[in-house]
Amino acid sequence: MKTAIRYFTRSGNTKKLADAIAGALGIPALTVAEPLPEPVDTLFLGCSYYAFDVDEAVKTFVAQNRANIGRIVLFGTSAMMKSVYKPMKKVADANGVALEKEDFHCRGSFGPAHKGRPDAEDCKRCAAFALKAIAG
Ligand SMILES: Cc1cc2nc3c(=O)[nH]c(=O)nc-3n(C[C@H](O)[C@H](O)[C@H](O)COP(=O)(O)O)c2cc1C
Repeated sequence: MKTAIRYFTRSGNTKKLADAIAGALGIPALTVAEPLPEPVDTLFLGCSYYAFDVDEAVKTFVAQNRANIGRIVLFGTSAMMKSVYKPMKKVADANGVALEKEDFHCRGSFGPAHKGRPDAEDCKRCAAFALKAIAG
């Protein structure tokens, strides 16, 4: 089972989760600036909410790498919204890529709100989610 991690971040919040998954799985967490060099069964894809949507860089990454993505397992953060699943589902469907129904989501710091999030406990829960996701 081949697995990769890619993420997009503006202020580092999503990177914290990506690094937690990387630590749990023993593979590197790279940004969406790095294309997938080979097909993977599972792509852990991290992105957060920006003006009620995912960033264009994430959409471009999925479009350009779709042939190498078996399925996406999503993780992300936000200040208010519950999950990035909805906008990501649109991206996945537009590119014919499978998106796992279960994602990991937690609060991310935004200005004075949610200081320190994701915190150590969020990262621990995210790592456990990733291990469960690849266990099947
Ligand atoms: C320009 C901008 C727009 C945002 N829009 C939303 C939004 O629509 N809904 C929301 O819940 N959070 C929103 N946020 C908060 C971010 O989703 C949150 O801070 C997130 O943890 C950022 O992750 P990052 O540091 O990995 O980029 C926004 C943040 C920024 C900077």
